[in-house]
Amino acid sequence: RGAETVTATGAATEAPDRARAQQGAHLTTSTGTRLRDTDHSLKAGSRGPTLLQDHHLREKITHFDHERIPERVVHARGAAAHGYFEGYGTASELTVAKFLQEGVRTPVFTRFSTVLGSRGSADTVRDTRGFATKFYTDEGTFDLVGNNMPVFFIQDGIKFPDVIHAGKPHPDREIPQAQSAHDTFWDFVSLHTEGQHHALWNMSDRGIPRSYRMMEGFGVHTFRLVDAEGGTTLVKFHWKPVLGVHSLDWEEAQFINGVDPDFHRRDLYDAIEAGAYPQWELGIQVFPDNEEQQFEGIDLLDPTKLVPEELAPVQAIGRLTLDANPKNFFAEVEQVAFHPGHLPPGIDVTNDPLLQARLFSYIDTQLSRLGGPNFNQIPINRPHAPVNDMLRDGFHQHADHEGVAPYKPNSLDGGCPFMAGTMEATFADVPVRVSESTKVRENPASFDDHFSQARLFWLSMSPVEKEHIIRAYTFELGKCYEDAIKQRQLQCLANIDPVLCQEVATGLGLPAPEPTEPLADVAPSPALSQLNGTWPAD
Ligand code: HEM
Repeated sequence: RGAETVTATGAATEAPDRARAQQGAHLTTSTGTRLRDTDHSLKAGSRGPTLLQDHHLREKITHFDHERIPERVVHARGAAAHGYFEGYGTASELTVAKFLQEGVRTPVFTRFSTVLGSRGSADTVRDTRGFATKFYTDEGTFDLVGNNMPVFFIQDGIKFPDVIHAGKPHPDREIPQAQSAHDTFWDFVSLHTEGQHHALWNMSDRGIPRSYRMMEGFGVHTFRLVDAEGGTTLVKFHWKPVLGVHSLDWEEAQFINGVDPDFHRRDLYDAIEAGAYPQWELGIQVFPDNEEQQFEGIDLLDPTKLVPEELAPVQAIGRLTLDANPKNFFAEVEQVAFHPGHLPPGIDVTNDPLLQARLFSYIDTQLSRLGGPNFNQIPINRPHAPVNDMLRDGFHQHADHEGVAPYKPNSLDGGCPFMAGTMEATFADVPVRVSESTKVRENPASFDDHFSQARLFWLSMSPVEKEHIIRAYTFELGKCYEDAIKQRQLQCLANIDPVLCQEVATGLGLPAPEPTEPLADVAPSPALSQLNGTWPAD
């Protein structure tokens, strides 16, 4: 028995057998015994007590009692679809990743989500949206786990529990359930001012998309591409919707929330059923991989910063099409498990401290959410590349592993496949130099600038977009109970732009403070406005 035959979780490009659970014309127990009656329990006489002996009754009720699994700790509310990705080949010189080569077609599964609401919350709330795509490439799974905003609230993943605690409903009242209008959120972002840029995106029209089909997506962090010679380039990933970016007005969103809380979920499902398949172009902004990891003075490792498209245009490298709805929401949408560390050969991570923490967090949470270490054997998570991983046993083990030597090299089960083969198409950690300086907890000085890009975003908005932003801040801050928090947030707005601050202060009936630091001298980026965005040509 050669070790190559030991496949734990599915074979190349083989679709999982999802129908297996419902075979045959007869109703059966879970072990296949045919049932005569599933409507009446076994009793001691027609009016007597129910008998413990009724195995079918106990199996049916017990299974029902355990139907629910924990919802995701964030991004609990979502909807997803299957589709395919086609590479243009335009990134071939930068990366060996095969799925990006010209004409290569790769199956995908994309899940969109809100961040803060629970699984049953409404769709059209003001929030960031998740945009996570699993590419089932022939070289192993690639997960691009992004959002519909290009920046994040915090610069270091160690603060992730804190920002989420601040954003989730208040521990005492459990309100608000899915919106940012509360004291703890504004308390957090006015004290951790690195969050101001992302908060401004939330207050803009981007916070309430018209449809998942009309959202941009961003990898947020800077990633590293690796070419055939081992040369490296830094990139930021962008998804650009072919339908353009569109949003709901706040009143529309409020109204739809009441009439149809499933609005985005329904929209995605119905569009696909009608054959109006949503499409996005995948693009990259490209930067030299130099020692500083900065571009035009922007720190590429700081996830609260974007690089304006005017400085680094987005180059299209492929196209995503979603053309099939899930057959079973639980099996697919609930059980899918993304991980930013699922990378194919040719793509690697950078030292962004937020990304580094994510690499730890996702697998950890999925261990409890999906009940143990074998969740990559669940059909929706199965790689389409052959798997030979030496991982064994554990809860919910589905593989029937052969052989006696799950270690490499060995002399019993066919030796060592990766040493016997070539190094082609293997994931290789890029040998980047790791800093030789002493261990520190402090951020680099370049992380200290918290307001210049929020100002850049504000200055890039059209008048109507600015008006929406002012209304959003006024509404959301107006819901805070504590005046001190409103005033501290107004101080942050003063440091972004005095007009924005004055308008919101007037709406709140509070005095507008003066800026506490000089206003950044930044050029607007017209591409950030939804009215000016750059979209795929067709
Ligand atoms: C889930 C994006 C930062 C922890 C998700 C999902 C997305 C996402 C799209 C939903 C995945 C799905 O649909 O199943 C992002 C982005 C981030 C970010 C773009 C920053 C740029 C973080 C950080 C942490 C974190 C810093 C922790 C240190 C989690 C966890 C889940 C999650 C625990 C739930 C995963 C699951 O239960 O399957 N994130 N996230 N995220 N994220 Fe993040």
